[in-house]
Amino acid sequence: VYIRFIILFFVPFLTLPIHAVSLRGLAEQHTLWVGAAVSGFRLKHDAEYRSVLAREYNMLVAENDMKFHRTHPKEDTYTFVNADAIANFAQKQGMKLRGHTLVWHRAVPDWLEEKEWKAGELSEMLREHILKVAGRYKGQMHAWDVVNEAMTNQGEWRDSFWYKHLGKDYLFNAFRWAKQADPEAKLFYNDYSAAVLNKKSDAIYDLVKEMQGKGIPIDGIGFQLHVKAAKYPNIASMRKNIRRLAALGMEVHFTEIDARLKLPTTKEQFEQQARCYRELLELCLSEPNCKAFLTWGFTDRYSWVYKHFEGYGDALPFDKNYEPKPAYHAMIDVLRGASGRN
Ligand code: G3I
Repeated sequence: VYIRFIILFFVPFLTLPIHAVSLRGLAEQHTLWVGAAVSGFRLKHDAEYRSVLAREYNMLVAENDMKFHRTHPKEDTYTFVNADAIANFAQKQGMKLRGHTLVWHRAVPDWLEEKEWKAGELSEMLREHILKVAGRYKGQMHAWDVVNEAMTNQGEWRDSFWYKHLGKDYLFNAFRWAKQADPEAKLFYNDYSAAVLNKKSDAIYDLVKEMQGKGIPIDGIGFQLHVKAAKYPNIASMRKNIRRLAALGMEVHFTEIDARLKLPTTKEQFEQQARCYRELLELCLSEPNCKAFLTWGFTDRYSWVYKHFEGYGDALPFDKNYEPKPAYHAMIDVLRGASGRN
């Protein structure tokens, strides 16, 4: 009878596919999109990169390949080779896709900045760009970061190329045109240092209200979350911000998480990093309008952090050899332990 018991109860677990204990497998039980930023070039050339992504994630976003200078390098030239590689991989693997990003103060190509624009001409060009790029992925795109980083940390409009030429209308029209190009995609405003209650998140909150008052479509706010593992944003304050956005009907996506460590790293630091990922994921799972949790990359092998923050790195859930780190195991733990939500 003991042997029967062992066979009946334990053998089925041994035959469970590895998938069942992936981020993706567990996230699907919670209707959570768990994603990573990727490069079309790496997808083509690194088989292990592809296989970890396919196993662990149900959402992808292009780290760079859908930005303005990549998709529209010359006035009359659009290029979608790498962007398409990402969209096709996502489709083949049954993953959702986030688009990043239609309008940003960076990634503005030289031809655009250097040209002498006549009134109306620049606005028309932006309209065409959005219709072309968002139109290409129509029906395939779950959400677009329509505008990225339009506000300063003081909550003022950033004096960007777009704002200088077109004023606030560049943002309002970008959302209108994105809706026209792809009516099904959820339209997001994405920014950094605005996850907690502060001047910048207040300005974003006011922006949403202003847009709603004008009848301009917006569905959600992206929190970037490039943080130090030793000093990440206050969770209680983030929760308040998520809830006030929920009251306006906004979804929230954690769009670009990485939690950097001071190099060289110690065991304690990886544990600290695991706590950071754990708390962020617990927060997202416990707020019904927080629907997506994406890291900016997934393997330390290709992370932007080393180049950008001197002396810091190792910010992602997988190490440079694609081995899962304590941060990964913490995320698995959270997903296993959380009660289901719809
Ligand atoms: O591809 C070229 C390569 O051919 C060339 O040899 C090399 C020389 O430096 O540059 C390569 O391009 C770099 C590209 O990343 C790919 O690695 C660019 O110089 C570099 O500026 C670019 O940085 C990206 C940055 O956005 C600016 O677009 C980062 O990878 C990317 O992680 C970062 O992502 C942003 C989000 O879009 C918005 N939120 C913040 C986040 C981090 O800055």
